[in-house]
Amino acid sequence: MTLSPNPQPSVNQGEAWAEAIRGEFPILDQQVHGKPLVFLDSAASSQRPRSVIDAVTWYEEHDHANVHRGVHTLSQRATDAFEGAREKVRNFINAESASEIVFVSGTTGGINLVASSFGQKFIAQGDEIIISHMEHHANIVPWQLLRERTGAVLRVIPMNQAGELDYQAYLDMLGPRTRIVALSHVSNALGTINPVKQYVAAAKNMGIPVLLDGAQAVPHMPVDVRELECDFYVFSSHKMYGPTGVGVLYGRQQLLDQLPPYQGGGDMILAVSFDKNVYNELPYRLEAGTPNISGVVGLGAAIDFLQGIGMPAIEKREQDLLAYATTALLDIPELRIIGTAAHKAGVLSFVMGRAHPHDIGTILDNQGVAVRTGHHCAMPVMDFFKLPATARASLGVYNTRADIDRLVEGLQHVREVLG
Ligand code: ALA
Repeated sequence: MTLSPNPQPSVNQGEAWAEAIRGEFPILDQQVHGKPLVFLDSAASSQRPRSVIDAVTWYEEHDHANVHRGVHTLSQRATDAFEGAREKVRNFINAESASEIVFVSGTTGGINLVASSFGQKFIAQGDEIIISHMEHHANIVPWQLLRERTGAVLRVIPMNQAGELDYQAYLDMLGPRTRIVALSHVSNALGTINPVKQYVAAAKNMGIPVLLDGAQAVPHMPVDVRELECDFYVFSSHKMYGPTGVGVLYGRQQLLDQLPPYQGGGDMILAVSFDKNVYNELPYRLEAGTPNISGVVGLGAAIDFLQGIGMPAIEKREQDLLAYATTALLDIPELRIIGTAAHKAGVLSFVMGRAHPHDIGTILDNQGVAVRTGHHCAMPVMDFFKLPATARASLGVYNTRADIDRLVEGLQHVREVLG
Protein backbone atom coordinates (compact mmCIF):
# COMPACT_ATOMS: atom_id res chain seq x y z
CA MET A 1 0.00 0.00 0.00
CA THR A 2 1.41 3.39 -0.97
CA LEU A 3 0.38 6.25 1.21
CA SER A 4 2.03 9.63 1.22
CA PRO A 5 4.77 9.95 3.84
CA ASN A 6 4.46 12.11 6.90
CA PRO A 7 6.77 15.09 7.20
CA GLN A 8 9.88 14.05 9.06
CA PRO A 9 10.51 15.27 12.61
CA SER A 10 12.69 18.32 12.48
CA VAL A 11 14.10 20.85 14.86
CA ASN A 12 13.89 23.57 12.23
CA GLN A 13 10.57 25.36 12.61
CA GLY A 14 11.36 28.11 10.16
CA GLU A 15 9.38 29.27 7.17
CA ALA A 16 10.71 26.61 4.78
CA TRP A 17 9.74 23.93 7.29
CA ALA A 18 6.22 25.36 7.57
CA GLU A 19 5.98 25.68 3.76
CA ALA A 20 6.88 22.00 3.43
CA ILE A 21 4.14 21.08 5.90
CA ARG A 22 1.71 23.32 4.04
CA GLY A 23 2.56 21.39 0.86
CA GLU A 24 1.06 18.28 2.51
CA PHE A 25 -2.40 19.90 2.44
CA PRO A 26 -3.89 19.72 -1.07
CA ILE A 27 -6.83 22.01 -0.24
CA LEU A 28 -4.51 24.92 0.52
CA ASP A 29 -3.22 24.91 -3.04
CA GLN A 30 -6.07 26.92 -4.56
CA GLN A 31 -7.21 30.43 -5.30
CA VAL A 32 -10.22 32.07 -3.69
CA HIS A 33 -11.59 35.16 -5.45
CA GLY A 34 -8.50 35.06 -7.66
CA LYS A 35 -6.04 35.16 -4.73
CA PRO A 36 -4.00 32.31 -3.23
CA LEU A 37 -5.93 30.94 -0.24
CA VAL A 38 -4.75 31.84 3.24
CA PHE A 39 -6.57 29.65 5.75
CA LEU A 40 -6.76 31.14 9.24
CA ASP A 41 -9.81 29.32 10.60
CA SER A 42 -8.34 26.15 12.05
CA ALA A 43 -9.99 26.66 15.45
CA ALA A 44 -13.33 26.07 13.72
CA SER A 45 -12.05 23.13 11.66
CA SER A 46 -8.56 22.38 10.44
CA GLN A 47 -7.69 20.99 7.01
CA ARG A 48 -6.55 17.41 6.26
CA PRO A 49 -3.10 16.43 5.05
CA ARG A 50 -2.75 14.09 2.14
CA SER A 51 -1.80 11.21 4.47
CA VAL A 52 -5.20 11.45 6.24
CA ILE A 53 -7.10 11.70 2.97
CA ASP A 54 -5.14 8.72 1.60
CA ALA A 55 -5.71 6.62 4.73
CA VAL A 56 -9.47 7.20 4.57
CA THR A 57 -9.55 6.53 0.81
CA TRP A 58 -7.51 3.35 1.23
CA TYR A 59 -9.82 2.16 3.96
CA GLU A 60 -12.93 2.91 1.88
CA GLU A 61 -11.48 1.26 -1.24
CA HIS A 62 -10.00 -1.83 0.38
CA ASP A 63 -11.01 -2.57 3.95
CA HIS A 64 -14.50 -1.33 4.80
CA ALA A 65 -16.92 -3.60 6.64
CA ASN A 66 -18.58 -3.36 10.02
CA VAL A 67 -16.33 -3.72 13.06
CA HIS A 68 -16.46 -6.27 15.89
CA ARG A 69 -19.09 -8.28 14.03
CA GLY A 70 -17.68 -10.46 11.31
CA VAL A 71 -15.30 -13.38 10.97
CA HIS A 72 -14.71 -12.45 7.36
CA THR A 73 -11.50 -10.81 6.23
CA LEU A 74 -12.82 -7.33 5.58
CA SER A 75 -14.50 -7.12 8.96
CA GLN A 76 -11.30 -8.23 10.62
CA ARG A 77 -9.26 -5.69 8.69
CA ALA A 78 -11.74 -2.92 9.55
CA THR A 79 -11.67 -3.98 13.22
CA ASP A 80 -7.86 -4.01 13.23
CA ALA A 81 -7.75 -0.52 11.69
CA PHE A 82 -10.37 0.78 14.13
CA GLU A 83 -8.77 -0.72 17.25
CA GLY A 84 -5.32 0.22 15.96
CA ALA A 85 -6.47 3.84 15.90
CA ARG A 86 -7.73 3.50 19.48
CA GLU A 87 -4.25 2.42 20.53
CA LYS A 88 -2.77 5.41 18.66
CA VAL A 89 -5.07 7.73 20.60
CA ARG A 90 -4.10 6.04 23.87
CA ASN A 91 -0.44 6.53 23.12
CA PHE A 92 -0.96 10.12 21.89
CA ILE A 93 -2.50 11.33 25.17
CA ASN A 94 -0.64 8.78 27.34
CA ALA A 95 -3.76 7.13 28.74
CA GLU A 96 -3.08 4.01 30.77
CA SER A 97 -5.35 1.69 28.82
CA ALA A 98 -7.10 1.60 25.43
CA SER A 99 -10.33 0.81 27.28
CA GLU A 100 -10.23 4.40 28.58
CA ILE A 101 -10.60 5.71 25.01
CA VAL A 102 -14.24 6.04 23.95
CA PHE A 103 -14.96 7.10 20.39
CA VAL A 104 -17.70 9.72 20.22
CA SER A 105 -18.98 12.08 17.54
CA GLY A 106 -16.78 14.94 18.73
CA THR A 107 -16.14 17.16 21.73
CA THR A 108 -19.84 18.00 21.96
CA GLY A 109 -20.75 14.31 21.90
CA GLY A 110 -18.20 13.52 24.61
CA ILE A 111 -19.39 16.24 26.97
CA ASN A 112 -23.02 15.27 26.44
CA LEU A 113 -22.12 11.68 27.28
CA VAL A 114 -20.47 12.68 30.56
CA ALA A 115 -23.19 15.19 31.51
CA SER A 116 -25.86 12.60 30.85
CA SER A 117 -24.24 9.47 32.23
CA PHE A 118 -22.17 10.89 35.07
CA GLY A 119 -25.06 13.25 35.80
CA GLN A 120 -27.57 10.41 36.04
CA LYS A 121 -25.39 8.57 38.54
CA PHE A 122 -23.81 11.30 40.62
CA ILE A 123 -25.76 14.57 40.36
CA ALA A 124 -28.94 15.41 42.23
CA GLN A 125 -30.89 18.50 43.20
CA GLY A 126 -28.73 21.15 44.86
CA ASP A 127 -25.44 19.55 43.72
CA GLU A 128 -23.03 21.92 42.06
CA ILE A 129 -21.31 21.83 38.68
CA ILE A 130 -18.47 24.29 38.08
CA ILE A 131 -17.71 25.62 34.61
CA SER A 132 -16.03 28.88 33.56
CA HIS A 133 -17.08 32.10 31.86
CA MET A 134 -14.95 31.30 28.81
CA GLU A 135 -16.55 27.98 27.86
CA HIS A 136 -17.97 27.46 24.40
CA HIS A 137 -21.55 26.29 24.13
CA ALA A 138 -20.58 22.60 24.04
CA ASN A 139 -19.34 22.90 27.62
CA ILE A 140 -22.29 25.00 28.83
CA VAL A 141 -25.50 23.68 27.32
CA PRO A 142 -25.14 19.97 28.28
CA TRP A 143 -24.73 21.07 31.92
CA GLN A 144 -27.74 23.37 31.65
CA LEU A 145 -29.80 20.46 30.32
CA LEU A 146 -28.61 18.41 33.28
CA ARG A 147 -29.54 21.27 35.59
CA GLU A 148 -33.04 21.26 34.11
CA ARG A 149 -33.36 17.51 34.65
CA THR A 150 -31.98 17.40 38.19
CA GLY A 151 -32.23 20.82 39.83
CA ALA A 152 -28.43 21.00 40.10
CA VAL A 153 -26.70 24.37 40.40
CA LEU A 154 -24.31 25.72 37.75
CA ARG A 155 -21.47 27.85 39.10
CA VAL A 156 -19.31 29.92 36.76
CA ILE A 157 -15.66 30.84 37.41
CA PRO A 158 -15.28 34.54 36.55
CA MET A 159 -12.54 35.93 34.29
CA ASN A 160 -10.72 39.23 33.95
CA GLN A 161 -10.40 41.62 31.01
CA ALA A 162 -7.37 39.76 29.68
CA GLY A 163 -9.45 36.58 29.50
CA GLU A 164 -7.81 34.81 32.44
CA LEU A 165 -9.78 32.86 35.03
CA ASP A 166 -9.92 33.90 38.67
CA TYR A 167 -8.24 31.03 40.50
CA GLN A 168 -9.11 32.29 43.97
CA ALA A 169 -12.79 32.55 43.01
CA TYR A 170 -12.57 28.96 41.79
CA LEU A 171 -11.04 27.77 45.07
CA ASP A 172 -13.81 29.55 46.94
CA MET A 173 -16.42 27.79 44.80
CA LEU A 174 -15.15 24.26 45.43
CA GLY A 175 -17.19 22.80 48.24
CA PRO A 176 -18.99 19.77 49.64
CA ARG A 177 -21.77 20.06 47.04
CA THR A 178 -19.39 20.27 44.04
CA ARG A 179 -19.83 17.11 41.97
CA ILE A 180 -17.78 17.95 38.86
CA VAL A 181 -15.62 20.69 37.35
CA ALA A 182 -15.77 21.08 33.54
CA LEU A 183 -13.20 23.43 32.11
CA SER A 184 -11.67 24.28 28.74
CA HIS A 185 -7.96 23.61 28.41
CA VAL A 186 -7.72 26.35 25.76
CA SER A 187 -10.43 28.92 25.02
CA ASN A 188 -11.64 28.84 21.42
CA ALA A 189 -12.70 32.49 21.46
CA LEU A 190 -9.79 34.03 23.38
CA GLY A 191 -6.91 31.61 23.01
CA THR A 192 -6.24 31.53 26.76
CA ILE A 193 -4.33 28.45 27.87
CA ASN A 194 -5.76 27.73 31.30
CA PRO A 195 -3.38 26.37 33.97
CA VAL A 196 -5.56 23.30 34.13
CA LYS A 197 -3.12 21.14 36.08
CA GLN A 198 -3.48 23.54 39.00
CA TYR A 199 -7.29 23.53 38.67
CA VAL A 200 -7.38 19.73 38.55
CA ALA A 201 -5.09 19.43 41.60
CA ALA A 202 -7.33 21.67 43.70
CA ALA A 203 -10.42 19.65 42.81
CA LYS A 204 -8.66 16.32 43.32
CA ASN A 205 -7.64 17.40 46.82
CA MET A 206 -11.34 17.39 47.58
CA GLY A 207 -12.11 14.22 45.63
CA ILE A 208 -13.97 16.13 42.89
CA PRO A 209 -13.68 14.84 39.30
CA VAL A 210 -12.59 17.18 36.52
CA LEU A 211 -13.48 17.11 32.82
CA LEU A 212 -11.17 19.05 30.52
CA ASP A 213 -12.34 20.20 27.11
CA GLY A 214 -9.23 19.77 25.02
CA ALA A 215 -10.68 20.56 21.58
CA GLN A 216 -8.43 23.60 21.14
CA ALA A 217 -5.43 22.15 22.98
CA VAL A 218 -4.76 18.73 21.51
CA PRO A 219 -3.77 19.97 18.01
CA HIS A 220 -1.36 22.56 19.38
CA MET A 221 0.60 21.19 22.35
CA PRO A 222 1.60 17.90 23.95
CA VAL A 223 -1.21 16.58 26.17
CA ASP A 224 -0.63 13.89 28.78
CA VAL A 225 -3.79 12.96 30.64
CA ARG A 226 -1.90 11.15 33.38
CA GLU A 227 0.30 14.14 33.99
CA LEU A 228 -2.75 16.41 34.09
CA GLU A 229 -4.47 13.88 36.40
CA CYS A 230 -7.84 14.78 34.93
CA ASP A 231 -10.74 12.32 35.05
CA PHE A 232 -12.19 13.10 31.61
CA TYR A 233 -10.58 14.71 28.57
CA VAL A 234 -12.51 15.34 25.34
CA PHE A 235 -11.44 16.44 21.88
CA SER A 236 -12.46 16.41 18.21
CA SER A 237 -10.70 14.83 15.27
CA HIS A 238 -11.59 17.60 12.83
CA LYS A 239 -9.67 20.24 14.76
CA MET A 240 -6.52 18.08 14.72
CA TYR A 241 -6.26 17.45 10.96
CA GLY A 242 -8.55 14.41 11.01
CA PRO A 243 -12.05 13.88 9.59
CA THR A 244 -15.26 15.44 10.93
CA GLY A 245 -17.85 13.49 12.90
CA VAL A 246 -15.52 11.72 15.28
CA GLY A 247 -13.85 12.58 18.55
CA VAL A 248 -12.54 11.09 21.75
CA LEU A 249 -13.71 10.89 25.31
CA TYR A 250 -10.88 9.80 27.58
CA GLY A 251 -12.11 8.71 30.99
CA ARG A 252 -10.16 7.34 33.92
CA GLN A 253 -11.09 3.66 34.01
CA GLN A 254 -12.20 3.66 37.63
CA LEU A 255 -14.72 6.41 36.86
CA LEU A 256 -15.82 5.13 33.42
CA ASP A 257 -16.53 1.78 35.08
CA GLN A 258 -19.16 3.45 37.22
CA LEU A 259 -20.97 5.28 34.40
CA PRO A 260 -24.33 3.87 33.34
CA PRO A 261 -24.73 3.29 29.57
CA TYR A 262 -25.38 6.48 27.62
CA GLN A 263 -27.15 5.17 24.53
CA GLY A 264 -28.51 1.69 23.97
CA GLY A 265 -27.95 -0.40 20.86
CA GLY A 266 -25.60 -2.82 19.16
CA ASP A 267 -22.01 -3.26 20.35
CA MET A 268 -22.71 -1.97 23.86
CA ILE A 269 -24.31 -5.26 24.94
CA LEU A 270 -23.16 -8.85 25.31
CA ALA A 271 -26.64 -10.38 25.59
CA VAL A 272 -30.15 -9.01 25.13
CA SER A 273 -33.49 -10.51 26.07
CA PHE A 274 -36.79 -8.77 26.62
CA ASP A 275 -36.31 -9.10 30.38
CA LYS A 276 -32.67 -8.38 30.93
CA ASN A 277 -29.47 -7.19 29.19
CA VAL A 278 -25.84 -7.90 29.90
CA TYR A 279 -23.71 -4.92 28.99
CA ASN A 280 -20.38 -5.11 27.24
CA GLU A 281 -17.08 -4.12 28.81
CA LEU A 282 -15.40 -0.74 28.35
CA PRO A 283 -15.06 1.08 26.07
CA TYR A 284 -17.73 -0.68 23.97
CA ARG A 285 -20.39 -0.25 26.67
CA LEU A 286 -20.31 3.48 25.85
CA GLU A 287 -20.17 3.07 22.05
CA ALA A 288 -23.65 2.01 20.93
CA GLY A 289 -24.27 1.37 17.25
CA THR A 290 -21.98 1.24 14.24
CA PRO A 291 -19.29 3.84 14.78
CA ASN A 292 -17.74 6.28 12.33
CA ILE A 293 -15.14 3.71 11.24
CA SER A 294 -13.49 5.61 8.40
CA GLY A 295 -13.43 8.73 10.60
CA VAL A 296 -11.59 6.82 13.30
CA VAL A 297 -9.13 5.47 10.71
CA GLY A 298 -8.56 9.06 9.55
CA LEU A 299 -8.08 10.19 13.14
CA GLY A 300 -5.40 7.53 13.55
CA ALA A 301 -3.65 8.87 10.44
CA ALA A 302 -3.94 12.43 11.80
CA ILE A 303 -2.17 11.30 14.97
CA ASP A 304 0.59 9.72 12.86
CA PHE A 305 0.87 13.03 11.02
CA LEU A 306 1.12 15.07 14.24
CA GLN A 307 3.58 12.69 15.84
CA GLY A 308 5.60 12.62 12.64
CA ILE A 309 6.19 16.33 13.09
CA GLY A 310 6.34 16.18 16.89
CA MET A 311 4.01 18.03 19.27
CA PRO A 312 6.81 20.00 20.98
CA ALA A 313 7.93 21.27 17.56
CA ILE A 314 4.36 22.21 16.64
CA GLU A 315 3.89 24.04 19.93
CA LYS A 316 7.11 26.00 19.51
CA ARG A 317 6.38 26.89 15.92
CA GLU A 318 2.84 28.09 16.68
CA GLN A 319 4.02 30.14 19.66
CA ASP A 320 6.59 31.88 17.42
CA LEU A 321 3.93 32.56 14.81
CA LEU A 322 1.49 33.81 17.44
CA ALA A 323 4.08 36.31 18.67
CA TYR A 324 4.73 37.45 15.09
CA ALA A 325 1.00 37.79 14.37
CA THR A 326 0.24 39.60 17.64
CA THR A 327 2.93 42.21 16.98
CA ALA A 328 1.76 42.66 13.39
CA LEU A 329 -1.92 43.06 14.31
CA LEU A 330 -1.19 45.51 17.11
CA ASP A 331 0.45 47.78 14.54
CA ILE A 332 -2.89 48.25 12.78
CA PRO A 333 -4.62 51.44 13.97
CA GLU A 334 -7.88 50.90 15.87
CA LEU A 335 -7.41 47.13 16.05
CA ARG A 336 -8.04 45.68 19.51
CA ILE A 337 -7.19 42.10 20.36
CA ILE A 338 -9.82 40.40 22.53
CA GLY A 339 -8.02 37.87 24.71
CA THR A 340 -4.65 39.04 25.95
CA ALA A 341 -3.82 36.36 28.51
CA ALA A 342 -0.17 35.81 29.37
CA HIS A 343 -0.41 32.22 28.10
CA LYS A 344 -2.17 31.86 24.80
CA ALA A 345 -2.50 29.42 21.92
CA GLY A 346 -2.71 30.58 18.30
CA VAL A 347 -6.07 32.33 18.44
CA LEU A 348 -6.36 36.04 17.61
CA SER A 349 -9.84 37.44 18.19
CA PHE A 350 -10.10 41.11 17.34
CA VAL A 351 -12.32 44.06 16.60
CA MET A 352 -11.39 47.09 14.50
CA GLY A 353 -12.85 50.51 15.15
CA ARG A 354 -16.51 50.52 14.20
CA ALA A 355 -16.18 47.92 11.47
CA HIS A 356 -18.58 45.03 11.95
CA PRO A 357 -16.70 41.72 12.20
CA HIS A 358 -18.87 40.22 9.45
CA ASP A 359 -17.80 43.02 7.10
CA ILE A 360 -14.18 42.43 8.08
CA GLY A 361 -14.60 38.72 7.32
CA THR A 362 -16.27 39.36 3.97
CA ILE A 363 -13.63 41.83 2.80
CA LEU A 364 -10.86 39.47 3.92
CA ASP A 365 -12.54 36.61 2.06
CA ASN A 366 -12.44 38.73 -1.08
CA GLN A 367 -8.69 38.95 -0.52
CA GLY A 368 -8.49 35.14 -0.26
CA VAL A 369 -8.07 35.22 3.54
CA ALA A 370 -10.39 32.96 5.57
CA VAL A 371 -11.14 33.96 9.18
CA ARG A 372 -14.15 33.22 11.35
CA THR A 373 -16.47 36.00 12.42
CA GLY A 374 -19.31 35.88 14.93
CA HIS A 375 -19.69 34.75 18.51
CA HIS A 376 -17.59 31.61 18.03
CA CYS A 377 -20.19 29.50 19.86
CA ALA A 378 -19.15 31.34 23.04
CA MET A 379 -21.85 33.97 23.55
CA PRO A 380 -21.08 34.51 27.27
CA VAL A 381 -17.55 35.56 26.24
CA MET A 382 -19.00 38.13 23.82
CA ASP A 383 -21.40 39.37 26.53
CA PHE A 384 -18.48 39.75 28.93
CA PHE A 385 -16.62 42.01 26.48
CA LYS A 386 -19.91 43.73 25.50
CA LEU A 387 -19.42 42.78 21.87
CA PRO A 388 -21.85 41.15 19.46
CA ALA A 389 -19.02 39.41 17.65
CA THR A 390 -15.32 39.41 16.86
CA ALA A 391 -13.21 38.47 13.86
CA ARG A 392 -10.94 35.55 14.70
CA ALA A 393 -7.76 34.39 12.98
CA SER A 394 -6.65 30.99 14.27
CA LEU A 395 -3.40 29.26 13.46
CA GLY A 396 -2.61 25.77 12.28
CA VAL A 397 0.56 23.86 11.64
CA TYR A 398 0.49 24.93 7.96
CA ASN A 399 0.43 28.68 8.57
CA THR A 400 3.40 30.85 7.71
CA ARG A 401 4.53 34.41 8.32
CA ALA A 402 3.50 35.11 4.73
CA ASP A 403 -0.08 34.17 5.73
CA ILE A 404 0.05 36.70 8.56
CA ASP A 405 1.42 39.34 6.18
CA ARG A 406 -1.52 38.66 3.85
CA LEU A 407 -3.93 39.03 6.81
CA VAL A 408 -2.36 42.38 7.69
CA GLU A 409 -2.58 43.55 4.06
CA GLY A 410 -6.20 42.45 3.98
CA LEU A 411 -6.95 44.38 7.16
CA GLN A 412 -5.33 47.48 5.71
CA HIS A 413 -7.70 47.07 2.78
CA VAL A 414 -10.61 46.76 5.25
CA ARG A 415 -9.61 50.14 6.68
CA GLU A 416 -9.54 51.68 3.21
CA VAL A 417 -12.95 50.27 2.30
CA LEU A 418 -14.70 50.96 5.60
CA GLY A 419 -12.87 54.19 6.38
N1 ALA B 1 -15.96 25.70 18.46
C1 ALA B 1 -15.60 25.92 17.10
C2 ALA B 1 -14.98 27.26 16.88
O1 ALA B 1 -14.37 27.77 17.77
C3 ALA B 1 -16.71 25.64 16.16
O2 ALA B 1 -15.09 27.85 15.81
